[in-house]
Amino acid sequence: MSASITWLGHNAWTIDSGGSTILVDPFLSDSPTAPVKASDVKAEFILLSHGHFDHLGDTIAIAKRTGATVITNFEIGEWLNGEGVASEKIVGMNPGGGVKQPFGHVKATIAHHSSSLPDGRYGGSPLGFVLTLDDKRIYFACDTALFSDMKLIAAGGLELAVLPIGDLYTMGPVDSIEAVKILKPWRVAPCHYGTWPPIAQDAYAWAEKVRSHTEAEPIVLEPGGKIEL
Ligand code: NI
Ligand code: MN
Repeated sequence: MSASITWLGHNAWTIDSGGSTILVDPFLSDSPTAPVKASDVKAEFILLSHGHFDHLGDTIAIAKRTGATVITNFEIGEWLNGEGVASEKIVGMNPGGGVKQPFGHVKATIAHHSSSLPDGRYGGSPLGFVLTLDDKRIYFACDTALFSDMKLIAAGGLELAVLPIGDLYTMGPVDSIEAVKILKPWRVAPCHYGTWPPIAQDAYAWAEKVRSHTEAEPIVLEPGGKIEL
């Protein structure tokens, strides 16, 4: 089964796999760098890592319009239900948990970050995700610091790691190179940079460091750019 993953700027991605469209952290209509608006995208599933506005984004509008199933943490799931997303369209997880879905398997990983909702409500534990599509494992670190337990995520082998490099709110370029050394993915794509001046980074300089310090192949995309899996 062929699959592709397209960067929609920041930590927003769309995955097309076996006829399913899976959105990750769909911060689109208010994103300075997203190449599409929320009204333009299709989705059967939405993976939502935590409650911050730059990840929650257009989740509610897209979920209501498309009927997509939202896979997120338990607390955000409860909150989305209160915002009118049907309970049967919500999968509430916690770190370490996994769930089988029609497109493949989703495992929620730890992420060292925070998570609050726009109304100030507790947003549960922030998540990363490991997706298994056929036999391909893809790790979305989402918003996190570097952590040595990434070696547990590396154990099954990774086709692709998607890492933040923006610094300030998440790991930056230096720590993300350490993450690549631990994760040992075949390919690595950066995100969560360049959206606003405080997280501006030179992704091409970062890619040179990936090449010289690790075995992974860096893939720097512009928003709208696609990786074939
Ligand atoms: Ni965040
Ligand atoms: Mn963020």
